[in-house]
Amino acid sequence: MRATAIAQPNIALIKYWGKRDVEQNLPAVGSISVTLAELQTTMLVDLESSVAKDTLVVNGEENPQLLPRISACLDNVLGSERAAVLVDSSSNFPIAAGLASSASAFAAVTVAATAAAELELPRQQLARMAGRASGSAARSLFGGFVELQNDASNIDVRSLCDARDWPLQVVVAITETAPKPTGSTEAMEISRKTSPFYDSWIDKQGVDLATAREAISARDFGALAMVSEHNCLKMHSVMWASRPPMVYWNSATMRCMQMVRALQADGCGVFFTIDAGPQVKAVCLPEDTAAVTSALESTEGVKQLMVTGLGDGARRVEQR
Ligand code: PMV
Repeated sequence: MRATAIAQPNIALIKYWGKRDVEQNLPAVGSISVTLAELQTTMLVDLESSVAKDTLVVNGEENPQLLPRISACLDNVLGSERAAVLVDSSSNFPIAAGLASSASAFAAVTVAATAAAELELPRQQLARMAGRASGSAARSLFGGFVELQNDASNIDVRSLCDARDWPLQVVVAITETAPKPTGSTEAMEISRKTSPFYDSWIDKQGVDLATAREAISARDFGALAMVSEHNCLKMHSVMWASRPPMVYWNSATMRCMQMVRALQADGCGVFFTIDAGPQVKAVCLPEDTAAVTSALESTEGVKQLMVTGLGDGARRVEQR
């Protein structure tokens, strides 16, 4: 009745932004991501801890902010008649700061809760359950390059390419560790209701997905770089043109983007992507990782760097 799972965050190259069903938390668009290796969330779910009410401990401290979403996820996985659950989570990277901590958290809690309840469920079903809690969490059930397909009635997630078959690296430049001002669910709804670019964003997503799928299949780094940066900047344009505008960047975010552009001009295999936060993720070829790391390290305003390869999907591990 206790189980521990590990999940890694994933970074979208072709982004999910917008929901077609808020209640069911279904995305309005498909997306393609890479699952990271070294950033990890470890989550213990204890179904017989005798706590009086659901309790969530994050990095050693009770966390009432995230608890309602964790409880809702547990209701979805275990049924609402369940007893109170103790969830003990630890992450080796800043949470709620645009580093996809919700993706790894909900993927891990879904795997740990089903394992604790001895439910044997197909991975696709686990992905859908995690996706109910956080759209991007569905992708962390799979490793390497992952596509979330969004059809009329449901979502379908699959791995496009194993991490070992195209071992790109990701250098994460952390420019701010404080939590972001507007959560993604609220921000997506503001975009849908107010951004003049929202409909065009939704219409063009299929083209970007096809281009990225082809680039991954051909291991064409240049083509993947071009479509990923384009898709990222389009998503941020949708946000910037919303009312109120949502600008997640700070001046160090811009400096990192300029640094990536300078590296590209020098022939480095690198491109940037940025989510709903100020961190810059520089995706690069293994042979260029050292140059990218040293350039971003010396970029003004970068507080911390994390360098990671691509990793596997969420999985149960031995009890801690
Ligand atoms: O899954 P959520 O609700 O945290 O939304 C994720 C949104 C982005 O990170 C900006 C894009 C994505 O596809 O991960």
